[in-house]
Amino acid sequence: MSIDALLQLFERHKDQYVSGGMMSQELGVSRTAVWKQIKKLEGAGYEFEASTKLGYRLVFAPEAIDEAAWSSAIRAKRFGSTLVVREQVKSTQDVARELAENGAQEGALVLAEEQLGGRGRMGRGWVSPQGKGLWMSMVLRPEVPIHCAPQLTLLTAVALCRSLRRETELEIGIKWPNDLLVNGKKISGILLESAAEDERLKYIIAGVGVSVNLSASDYPEELLEKATSLRIEGGRAFSRQALLAAFLLEWETLYDLFLQEGFGPIATLWESLSVTLGRRARLITPQGELHGIPVGLEESGAIRVLQDNGSYASIFSAEMGEPRAST
Ligand code: BTN
Repeated sequence: MSIDALLQLFERHKDQYVSGGMMSQELGVSRTAVWKQIKKLEGAGYEFEASTKLGYRLVFAPEAIDEAAWSSAIRAKRFGSTLVVREQVKSTQDVARELAENGAQEGALVLAEEQLGGRGRMGRGWVSPQGKGLWMSMVLRPEVPIHCAPQLTLLTAVALCRSLRRETELEIGIKWPNDLLVNGKKISGILLESAAEDERLKYIIAGVGVSVNLSASDYPEELLEKATSLRIEGGRAFSRQALLAAFLLEWETLYDLFLQEGFGPIATLWESLSVTLGRRARLITPQGELHGIPVGLEESGAIRVLQDNGSYASIFSAEMGEPRAST
């Protein structure tokens, strides 16, 4: 029995439970053989509801990345003009870095169905199960000084937030610097890694992870309090292809605006989408911890914080958390 025959069976019995007995009869194989194929499908991102009395019901089927179809859906001109699709990688960052080192042009994009060692900020990992999210890294070659790299992280967050809000109609906001949140939980992360030579940016690898169709069981228990997916929050599955196409177009448009007009217009957009400004927070910086109210973004990309002691601080990099009660 092929996996396709089993999938066709579920297609014929859409939204219905199918018993083990019925499957083994229709497909002419043993129940154990059916069960083994179901486990295989689960490993590939399919989800079933299992009932001892009724059997199995297919509740989620991942849409595989079809390179040709996805390429032709992309409306951006440069971003995604080269598309490299991999089934399983350690991290798309590594694949994109290799492309960049070999001269790939700006906009070359690596997409993976699954990452085994997805990287997050601050040395953390990134949950990247098969077929459930957008796990991607793009080569950027902006002709800007190295200190502008943080601005590009914020720009990427703005583009992602605007496109996902439009496509999903979910209330998505940006937590400084670049986490996208829905109902206070993270649905996406951005990791920019740069290579420089003589104070000049050689290239940037812009890594973006969007938790599109993950279900609660895809997350380790300890992450469930902080992390979610568009599907969990929206109550339905979303097309990864449509989300990618919308994001790349928005990203390229804002990137071109940034190259022409600088960071000012991007900062204004960021501020309008921020869920951080005006709310007292605790910031853990490499230099120590401070408490205060983030009040705005500076031209440099730093966040300006009115501290509890009345002075202002400009912060480039920090972990942001819930504040201790003010005294
Ligand atoms: C974070 O919020 O900590 C950043 C997460 C970035 C995850 C993406 S997924 C695609 C790319 N490949 C990686 O290994 N990381 C980034």
